[in-house]
Amino acid sequence: MSTDSTKLAFNDGWQYAPAPESTDHIQIDDHYGLFINGEFVAPEIDRYFESINPATEKPLSNIALASEKDVDRAVKAARKAYTGVWSKMSGADRGKYLFRIARIMQERAREFATIESLDGGKPIRESRDIDIPLAAAHFFYYAGWADKLEYAFPARTPVSLGVVGQIIPWNFPLLMAAWKIAPALACGNTVVLKPAETTSLTAMKLAEVFRDAGLPPGVVNIVTGAGPTGAAIVNHLDVNKVAFTGSTEVGKIIQRSLAGTDKKYTLELGGKAANIIFADAAIDEAVEGIVNGIFFNQGHVCCAGSRLLVQESVADEVVRKLRDRMETLIIGDPLDKNTDIGAINSAGQLETIESYLSIGQAEGAEMYQSDCSVPDQGYWCRPTIFTGVSQSNRIVQEEIFGPVLAIQTFRTLEEGLTKANNTPYGLSGGVWTDKGSKVFKMTQKIRAGVIWANTFNKFDPTSPFGGYKESGVGREGGMHGLGAYLKLEA
Ligand code: NAI
Ligand code: MG
Repeated sequence: MSTDSTKLAFNDGWQYAPAPESTDHIQIDDHYGLFINGEFVAPEIDRYFESINPATEKPLSNIALASEKDVDRAVKAARKAYTGVWSKMSGADRGKYLFRIARIMQERAREFATIESLDGGKPIRESRDIDIPLAAAHFFYYAGWADKLEYAFPARTPVSLGVVGQIIPWNFPLLMAAWKIAPALACGNTVVLKPAETTSLTAMKLAEVFRDAGLPPGVVNIVTGAGPTGAAIVNHLDVNKVAFTGSTEVGKIIQRSLAGTDKKYTLELGGKAANIIFADAAIDEAVEGIVNGIFFNQGHVCCAGSRLLVQESVADEVVRKLRDRMETLIIGDPLDKNTDIGAINSAGQLETIESYLSIGQAEGAEMYQSDCSVPDQGYWCRPTIFTGVSQSNRIVQEEIFGPVLAIQTFRTLEEGLTKANNTPYGLSGGVWTDKGSKVFKMTQKIRAGVIWANTFNKFDPTSPFGGYKESGVGREGGMHGLGAYLKLEA
């Protein structure tokens, strides 16, 4: 089937009727205060910022801008809850709270998914089927560990750290909050968390869950704001550990400001993962994996498969099938259940992505975008691939964080491996082949924390996650994720 006939078939003959998720069942307040010591409180200085819907550019709510003093109030509440209640509580009792939080999240899953898609722009299918269930799963998983920490570390005595400061990005807002808060609480720490400034709403809803679960006041505090609020958490003298997910640039700033202090830290930073397709792979499945790897969540994924390395003998076939598949992807209203690609999270991120599209063309690569129409309002980027790129091109080396794929070819396994590893990052990778032995050979030699074989972007709370090189420091998730929130004494 030629590309042209596919376009005709899918674009003209296969329009789906709109299937939007309703917003009748959700409640978004006009203003949100800070969640400190179990209550929503006004910021010390009367300053708020707007959170908008990136699919319409319309404001959704006003979010409190926390100052250094507000952060100090939150840290004090967390310290008091730590020494007074949480560090004294048995693991079994901490686990009961975590189970309760997980169950309430499940009960309110539809509301969470809808708000996540409204505030962040991701397709409802992803927030409904991935973000929210996985967020609840993290609370369930770590609830189970709360009373078993000594079994995780035999012959050692696990001791909580104290107050932990957590700073998260906008690409998986609720999931990142759960990913950070659940293990911290299971290990007996208390928390001050800052969501990203474009996606604070589900964190505010999560604060309601904590309150409804009867979590003792001060065990989790949520302060909203941008970089300076995050920096105030990092630099607060009474914070014992900092956990950050975001850009490598900010990760380096945080690492520098923590040098010489006794604060522990974990950093989950950027990535430039390669999906490596061998000639013996099941090509149709691999194409689906490439699409999932880079177009999932608009490419706003630190472990996105943003590079494609395809063995030369099947390169033409893979690129042709990929272009055909791209034509069928539906871009538009994040609340529509048929949508594959939602809105870019912010005007700033769209600008970054568009600057890379120009850079790629200026570097001499050939750009191809699908033909689909995009709405007039809001921030959108059509799925994009670049061919004819070379290893030194910026679009091959730098994180774009958008639905943009750079395609290269290789002949031998060694060449594929060398190209895959030729990057300052090392977060994830994908290998597609029919041969188990090749999978093992590749996975042993790819310098990345997570490698998928014949699949991509699969997540599970039991599995550790983290990077090599500029992709970060430390591991989150699974049993490894417990170690990041404990001191292990003899
Ligand atoms: P960012 O790193 O500035 O933001 C992440 C979080 O850090 C936000 O909550 C932000 O308020 C906070 N923050 C910013 N400056 C801070 C500081 N000096 N101290 C403490 N906290 C601070 O990322 P941004 O600007 O939103 O995105 C820029 C690029 O970063 C993206 O294009 C993408 O390449 C990468 N990125 C990677 C993510 C990942 O999951 N690894 C997530 C988000 C962005
Ligand atoms: Mg928003």
